[in-house]
Amino acid sequence: MLDIHAAMDQYLEQNLLQDDPILEKISQASEAAGLVPHAVTPLQAEFLALLIRISGARTVLEIGCLGGYSAVAMARALPEDGQLVTTEIDTRTAGVAEDNITGSGFGDRIDLRVGPAMQVLDDEIAAGRTFDFIFIDADKVNHKNYLERGLKLARTGSIIVADNIVRGGAVLDAGSAENSVKGVRAMMAYAATLEEVDKTALQTVGAKGYDGMAIFRVR
Ligand code: DHB
Ligand code: MG
Repeated sequence: MLDIHAAMDQYLEQNLLQDDPILEKISQASEAAGLVPHAVTPLQAEFLALLIRISGARTVLEIGCLGGYSAVAMARALPEDGQLVTTEIDTRTAGVAEDNITGSGFGDRIDLRVGPAMQVLDDEIAAGRTFDFIFIDADKVNHKNYLERGLKLARTGSIIVADNIVRGGAVLDAGSAENSVKGVRAMMAYAATLEEVDKTALQTVGAKGYDGMAIFRVR
């Protein structure tokens, strides 16, 4: 059954978004391959793309690729010489993503690294790289670690977006035994200590239920 949030998503998509055969194909292929339905929604993908365009980002780091839906949505928002690095720990999932990325026509802008995100981040830190825009959307257990590494990969003006910071409100439970909730709460406690960073969060509802994104900008 379509709940009101999913129905509203559909209405907003119909009115605000263009037909998007590229992302639609990725969505269908990801579902057919049995990937978990955790990709961002079309409206959320456009929100990320909009932030990239508004900020003039040229380099994007995505932590957690899944089927490549958000990677393609973000890479598409970059200027032609823009580059996006994305990480995927699961080799079978990465294979699906690679096919989706190649099929999108934006493969030349996307560098998919297969392996643990922490390893990829530490490699990028060691290489002295920085990114204009970072999207944290991998395992929530490491949410704090990704934000901490992400800040090392940021420069003044870089934007960091962290997905899934509400989880249906489960994040309110300080005594939760759920590792993902503990991970998000650790990230929030760390975020509270950050200085010289603009911070906010948006609670979201929609086809994926009740969740939210935190948004940071390095001063
Ligand atoms: C989960 C992960 C996500 O990235 C998401 O957007 C929704 C749910 C999860 O692991 O439950
Ligand atoms: Mg997510």
